[in-house]
Amino acid sequence: MSETGCPKCDGSGWVEVERDGYVAAERCTCILNDRSGQLEAAAGIPPLYANASLENFQNFGNPALSEVQNIVRAYAREYPYLPKPGLLLIGEPGTGKTHLAVAALRRLIARGFEGMFFDYQNLLDRIRAGYDPASGTSSRDAYEAAMESEILLLDDLGAHRVTEWVEDTVTSIITYRCNHKKALIATTNLVDADAGSRSPERNSLTPGRAEWRITLVERIGIRARSRLFEMCRIVRMPSVGDYRLRRQTL
Ligand SMILES: Nc1ncnc2c1ncn2[C@@H]1O[C@H](COP(=O)(O)OP(=O)(O)OP(=O)(O)O)[C@@H](O)[C@H]1O
Ligand SMILES: [Mg+2]
Ligand SMILES: [Zn+2]
Repeated sequence: MSETGCPKCDGSGWVEVERDGYVAAERCTCILNDRSGQLEAAAGIPPLYANASLENFQNFGNPALSEVQNIVRAYAREYPYLPKPGLLLIGEPGTGKTHLAVAALRRLIARGFEGMFFDYQNLLDRIRAGYDPASGTSSRDAYEAAMESEILLLDDLGAHRVTEWVEDTVTSIITYRCNHKKALIATTNLVDADAGSRSPERNSLTPGRAEWRITLVERIGIRARSRLFEMCRIVRMPSVGDYRLRRQTL
């Protein structure tokens, strides 16, 4: 695009902008639009969420839900100038966690950051397949992308049975990202007492009972959870009911 005579930058891809009395060079929008289109195509966003945005997220006039929407909007606007580089959306199924996470990711991509969407379970399956010498190199790439990508969206964190291997793999990805201050946007419907989940009355209940809920720490381990809380702002979804069910009745 830059070679083809953009009137704003004369095809150089750079424009001069004045900021606080200084003149600085900035990427022209013709480059950014081109780059963000390519980045979005490479981000692996599932088709179901291809149009998920903050604009088409409904808050139903619910103050708690519009507060969440504002936090996500501010995150996408202000990153990386934030106390914590990540966002963890916790809440019940169908409350819009993945929708909001993708909306944030798409805004960040539009701002020129590189980001990748990974479904947690699918990522682990692909990484595990990478240890099978018979498989190709693509699963190794998934591991590398999850480590190196500027922004990682890890959807449905903990939605996998626990094994030592899973715990080690998740811990190594999260530790690496935490140490390198790389952004992580994660969603989960596991409960966590420190994230304001109603403390499951598990002491008095036995596994298998309806109220018994698996916690985040049980699924990803204490070390990964600790780092997750260090690097992410925790956002608890209000109990607004399952949008998927609501949609059926509209
Ligand atoms: N408030 C909302 N406004 C508009 N669309 C919504 C809203 N909440 C959810 N949706 C839509 O409903 C569907 C389910 O939402 P989503 O997948 O984000 O839920 P989730 O919280 O990630 O659920 P799960 O825990 O099962 O993964 C999606 O198609 C999403 O775009
Ligand atoms: Mg989801
Ligand atoms: Zn230009």
